[in-house]
Amino acid sequence: MENVFRLVDNKDFFARRCIMVNGPVIVGAGPSGLATAACLRDQGVPFVVLERAECIASLWQKRTYDRLKLHLPKAFCQLPKLPFPEDFPEYPTKKQFIDYLESYAKHFEINPKFNSCVQSARYDETSGFWRVKTVTSTQSTRSEVEYICRWLIVATGENAECVVPEFDGLSDFGGKVVHACEYKSGESFRGKKVLVVGCGNSGMELSLDLCNHNALPSIVVRSSVHVLPREMFGKSTFELAVLLLKWLPIWLTDKLLLLFSWLILGSIEKYGLNRPSVGPMELKNMEGKTPVLDIGALDKIKSGGIKVVPGIKRFSSGQVELVNGERLDIDSVVLATGYRSNVPSWLQEGDFFSKNGFPKQPFPHGWKGNAGLYAVGFTRRGLSGASSDAMRIAQDIGKVWKGETKQIKKRTTACHRRCISQF
Ligand SMILES: Cc1cc2nc3c(=O)[nH]c(=O)nc-3n(C[C@H](O)[C@H](O)[C@H](O)COP(=O)(O)OP(=O)(O)OC[C@H]3O[C@@H](n4cnc5c(N)ncnc54)[C@H](O)[C@@H]3O)c2cc1C
Ligand SMILES: NC(=O)c1ccc[n+]([C@@H]2O[C@H](COP(=O)([O-])OP(=O)(O)OC[C@H]3O[C@@H](n4cnc5c(N)ncnc54)[C@H](OP(=O)(O)O)[C@@H]3O)[C@@H](O)[C@H]2O)c1
Repeated sequence: MENVFRLVDNKDFFARRCIMVNGPVIVGAGPSGLATAACLRDQGVPFVVLERAECIASLWQKRTYDRLKLHLPKAFCQLPKLPFPEDFPEYPTKKQFIDYLESYAKHFEINPKFNSCVQSARYDETSGFWRVKTVTSTQSTRSEVEYICRWLIVATGENAECVVPEFDGLSDFGGKVVHACEYKSGESFRGKKVLVVGCGNSGMELSLDLCNHNALPSIVVRSSVHVLPREMFGKSTFELAVLLLKWLPIWLTDKLLLLFSWLILGSIEKYGLNRPSVGPMELKNMEGKTPVLDIGALDKIKSGGIKVVPGIKRFSSGQVELVNGERLDIDSVVLATGYRSNVPSWLQEGDFFSKNGFPKQPFPHGWKGNAGLYAVGFTRRGLSGASSDAMRIAQDIGKVWKGETKQIKKRTTACHRRCISQF
């Protein structure tokens, strides 16, 4: 209790509304935050979820295109403690996934504090609490709230912000330029010459969508890329890779995956898609670079519906000049140049997270830091990695919580007016 009074002494304390949270604060109401909240609920631990958007799963609801489906089979994408409905297809659509997340939040009574963007979080060594500052804005109001908590769970995602590279001359281009996160459908690009920059899963799927809407896409492949079929011999490639990795070293798994891909897809090099020298699983582990799981773009590349072009030198009015000197007339540009974590912009901590906004320790060790700090969903293993983090975190906090419940209850009574929780 003494430590809490020391916090009250701080003159900053009365400058904004201050809320003492009985339990952990979870930053982010995407799949990772929801999974952790559900597991904490199961452990009987109260929590508060802070979300900058006005809805759960804002990446899925607001920043993805219409044709998106999960690219891993549903068994690898469901969150802990509530499976997908049985009638879901093997690869659920974006709408089905969002519906599932909505019912997941409802089922576990997870009610995030929406429009609450975390601006900073730091550990106060004197009090032993985390101080999490948020700006809460609605259309007409803006207020600052500080949450004080013993445990801080970072669930802001690997894809919190768009990567928008700078290109020479882009301001003179004159046509429409959007990032993949703003792209919804190829409908508005019908008949247009579109340059898609980036050949990850987004770039490939958007090029396919553009092609299907009778646009004329060219895709920029500036380096190399692993393209694998989404399925091999009737089994999902991901599932097959997981199975092989149980018995074989990663280099041999990669060799087999590449052999099978070659048998199914043929050589991709002759279409301008050079494979990296490191195998797909090893590259994913080393650099987090996801292989493309092909759902039809490759056929369009082979048939000339999607043109593969090398890196960009500069843009000019209505044109792009490529590194090989070729000039293309283009109407629009879609930047499928990826995403990044935003953790370094708000978390004042240097031991657990590295400068790129990912935990320094790779999976499966990157979920727990010091002083009650946790990370969920930074495993570079998609939704299945997030689920595994969430269960570990809830168990870890649950153990302490159960051991200390009596003391915490006393503390809760003492500072009743300032405490909130969703318990
Ligand atoms: C187009 C696309 C398709 C994908 N498809 C798949 C797939 O099929 N399978 C798969 O396993 N993975 C897929 N992924 C990876 C994807 O990141 C995960 O599926 C999943 O969304 C990760 O959940 P998350 O909760 O960790 O992050 P997010 O879904 O990004 O959620 C993080 C939440 O934190 C909030 N937030 C961020 N900063 C703050 C802040 N400062 N204060 C408050 N709130 C904040 C955000 O608004 C967001 O709601 C895909 C990613 C993209 C971009
Ligand atoms: N259906 C699905 O489930 C689905 C769909 C889309 C995305 N996703 C997931 O979402 C995450 C993000 O995927 P993403 O495709 O958006 O991003 P990404 O995998 O990070 O790919 C970004 C691409 O942009 C290129 N790039 C970056 N800067 C560039 C520049 N200046 N000039 C030219 N090219 C540039 C990169 O090339 P280099 O490789 O040379 O850096 C890379 O090809 C991944 O985990 C992915 O699997 C899933």
